[in-house]
Amino acid sequence: MKHITSLFLVLTAACVAEPEIPNGKAAFAQDCASCHGADAKGAGPVAQSLGVLAPDLTHLSAQNGGVFPREQVMAIIDGLNRDPHFSTAMPEFGAGDLGEAVIVETAPGVGTPTPVGLIALADYLESIQSP
Ligand code: HEC
Repeated sequence: MKHITSLFLVLTAACVAEPEIPNGKAAFAQDCASCHGADAKGAGPVAQSLGVLAPDLTHLSAQNGGVFPREQVMAIIDGLNRDPHFSTAMPEFGAGDLGEAVIVETAPGVGTPTPVGLIALADYLESIQSP
């Protein structure tokens, strides 16, 4: 009986566990490096062939007073809040599969459902910011 109880607990824990955050580095290599470059410094082969400049993504914090502009970055990737001057060359990934949504506290007491794929990409970009 004891075994059955512990098996039940393990199964229950597996069901309520938060979805795992995917590997942002691998996602970047797959979806973004073609334009932004494997090192995220721009100059990926596809952007060059499109004749557009995909920006260097390692200076986003430096350009934002030293703070990583996480929400803005996620909005850009997702395709939300695009300002009209933004080039249409950058695809909107929100329509694709960015994974299951988890609730992220975007302001005190305000939870925003955010796909785990977006969080992973934002985490990865934050980790490669130049000082
Ligand atoms: C088809 C080429 C292409 C792909 C693929 C692409 N981008 Fe972009 N991206 C661009 C271009 C071009 C811009 C600049 C748009 C503008 O400023 O008008 C841009 C801009 C951005 C910006 C804003 C940079 C800034 O200086 O504010 C972020 C962040 C970004 N991309 C992240 C990503 C991520 C993450 C991925 C992968 C999920 C990705 N991009 C895939 C072409 C691409």
